Amino acid sequence: MFIARTVAELRQHLAHADKPAFVPTMGNLHQGHASLLRQAKPLGDALVASIFVNRLQFLPHEDFDSYPRTFDNDCALLEALGCDVLFAPLEAELYPQPQTFKVLPDPVLANILEGEFRPGFFTGVCTVVMKLFSCVFNGSAGVALFGQKDYQQQLIIRHMVRQFALPIEIVTCPTTRAPDGLALSSRNMYLSPAERAQAVQLSAALKNLAAHVRDRTASGLDLNLPALEIAAMDQLRSLGWQPDYLTVRHRLDMSPLSAVTDAPLVVLGAAKLGQTRLIDNLELETIASLRSQ
Ligand code: PAF
Repeated sequence: MFIARTVAELRQHLAHADKPAFVPTMGNLHQGHASLLRQAKPLGDALVASIFVNRLQFLPHEDFDSYPRTFDNDCALLEALGCDVLFAPLEAELYPQPQTFKVLPDPVLANILEGEFRPGFFTGVCTVVMKLFSCVFNGSAGVALFGQKDYQQQLIIRHMVRQFALPIEIVTCPTTRAPDGLALSSRNMYLSPAERAQAVQLSAALKNLAAHVRDRTASGLDLNLPALEIAAMDQLRSLGWQPDYLTVRHRLDMSPLSAVTDAPLVVLGAAKLGQTRLIDNLELETIASLRSQ
């Protein structure tokens, strides 16, 4: 595996690749990242990963400084997965001057859910992803893979790629879970053993909310989604969590549900357990299809 520390080294090394397959990461790689890399391998002629902890997507009180940096272990995993090129720039290489030009995502998509609780997060993500795409693909075609766990992120990146006419295919890969169902995340390592044992309650709450939506819809009852969402958050609170949101949205634009819809849905949640904020989601059928079951 070639480790490129500069944009010039990266571009030189990829000069003959017709279709790079790219997995951007912030490092501290786990089996979720490994799954993305395995799925990426057959999709291109050069498997490229990046490790860059992007300051722009952290709020001042967030964990930029303490975000786990495990470069040597990450390199060993990437080697084992057949990664051809790792782009691991220093901050001074990717942001040689303060990044005053930014990619501002549509506020309708980016100022809700994660964006409401982490203002500016998606501007930071879009700006670095646009820059990483420019470094890796250099205007040419390719494919980039993102995890479904960051549902809103993959959606916003899809919109960004479409609106800027980038010749990059975006592939979203299923969430990798621990045996108990907890979605893998670098931030899981912040959990104490007691919190780790409890952490699956977030995905259980999403499943439970989905089950209520299915049951009420299938039996023709009024859905009363706001009440179901409030009850789901109260239930998590009673278990010691501080939920930011648990909600059912349209998959394609994150908009809230209105009436019966035949647009596909997703149940999304974010909540803090102690000091650790976790997110998760699961896809749900359309209300119209649930009605006809
Ligand atoms: O999902 C992540 O790890 C980050 O948001 C990303 C896409 C690598 C951008 O920093």
